[in-house]
Amino acid sequence: MNIMITGGCGYIGSHVTISLEKLGHNITIYDNFSNSNKDQIKRLDLICTSNIDYICADITDTKSLKNILKDKKIESVVHMAGLKYVGDSESDPISYYENNVSGTISLLKAMNECEIKNLVFSSSATVYGEPEYLPIDENHSTSPISVYGRTKLYVENILKDLSLSDPDWSIICLRYFNPAGAHHSGFIGEEITSKSENLFPTIGKVLSGITPSLKVYGRDYQTHDGTGIRDYIHVSDLSEGHAMSVEYVNNNKGIENINLGRGHGYSVLEVIKSFEKITKKKIPYEFAEFRSGDISSSFADVTKAKQILGWIATRDLDDMCKSMWYYDQNKDSIF
Ligand code: NAD
Ligand code: UD1
Repeated sequence: MNIMITGGCGYIGSHVTISLEKLGHNITIYDNFSNSNKDQIKRLDLICTSNIDYICADITDTKSLKNILKDKKIESVVHMAGLKYVGDSESDPISYYENNVSGTISLLKAMNECEIKNLVFSSSATVYGEPEYLPIDENHSTSPISVYGRTKLYVENILKDLSLSDPDWSIICLRYFNPAGAHHSGFIGEEITSKSENLFPTIGKVLSGITPSLKVYGRDYQTHDGTGIRDYIHVSDLSEGHAMSVEYVNNNKGIENINLGRGHGYSVLEVIKSFEKITKKKIPYEFAEFRSGDISSSFADVTKAKQILGWIATRDLDDMCKSMWYYDQNKDSIF
């Protein structure tokens, strides 16, 4: 099948590219490289056996999208391009609405005009906001607490309206919990930038000496060790979930929201412990105030992913820490 992956050179997109290419699909990546490096092309080409087409363009450019969709005879789209930093979204909401919401509308217009109606969209568990119960299933209410989260929910609602207006569309919104880890080759992983605020890249900064110690946000949560609990999911499991979603949208119509997580949470202290075991390094940390907008615990009910996609995550926390550490050690050795 001919598949276009918007944002395919990013952290998750590059792993999704690998999973889909492995299954024999022809991949076109559409990325403006605003949050990825062109080195990513060399890295992907080292892992993939067939030719990937790389298009450097912006999703807000509907005309360019239409040309590519037609030229490459695209049959399905995995839409991952977007801006993702929560702090950044609060200080620059216009860019977030423009990229994430207007960019998606531009893509939908292009797809509609080209009669391509199979779509897998990267949403986020952040659409749920403060959990009312755990584990969180897809029927949980949605009330995102950041601009970033609201851009994801607006897009989900647009997709719902689109699906209601035209039964030929087939759409899955994947609500990722906390993606972590790297490809086992050590060639592909998450780039640590000055905007990275998530736990795994921040631990990466401490391990590589960029930051002297980790701030653990909050020690008095109602959890077994007082620190926040999240459902970390290995990026390779996540990408396999996308491959199964592409398969599903090609054989079914309508729209589904599906959680992708492990269905199990780990605390911040457990993540630190796992990294210390794997790297045999001490991770200095200090307790700090709660981070604004943080919640105590979040983990997924993954029944629907298993029922609808036949997907289940198989890699555990140690696998995530090990692969991230291997990538951090190995990533510069290929150039
Ligand atoms: P990323 O920033 O690594 O990748 C996004 C890619 O999209 C980058 O290569 C960037 O250059 C490209 N891009 C951004 N705006 C674009 C535009 N206007 N036109 C063309 N390309 C554009 O992010 P990621 O971590 O790989 O996340 C992928 C998707 O998954 C995003 O939509 C993100 O919101 C969503 N998501 C990520 C997480 C996470 O923790 N990483 C969690 C939930 C959801
Ligand atoms: C964050 C975002 C969320 C986004 C998700 C995945 C906030 C408030 N929420 O969620 O919208 O969907 O990333 O991209 O930013 N922690 C520390 N020290 C750190 C970093 C994190 O103790 O330096 C703790 C946090 O308090 C939390 C856990 O580690 O308990 C995980 O944090 P993080 O990786 O940022 O993910 P989320 O909080 O789930």
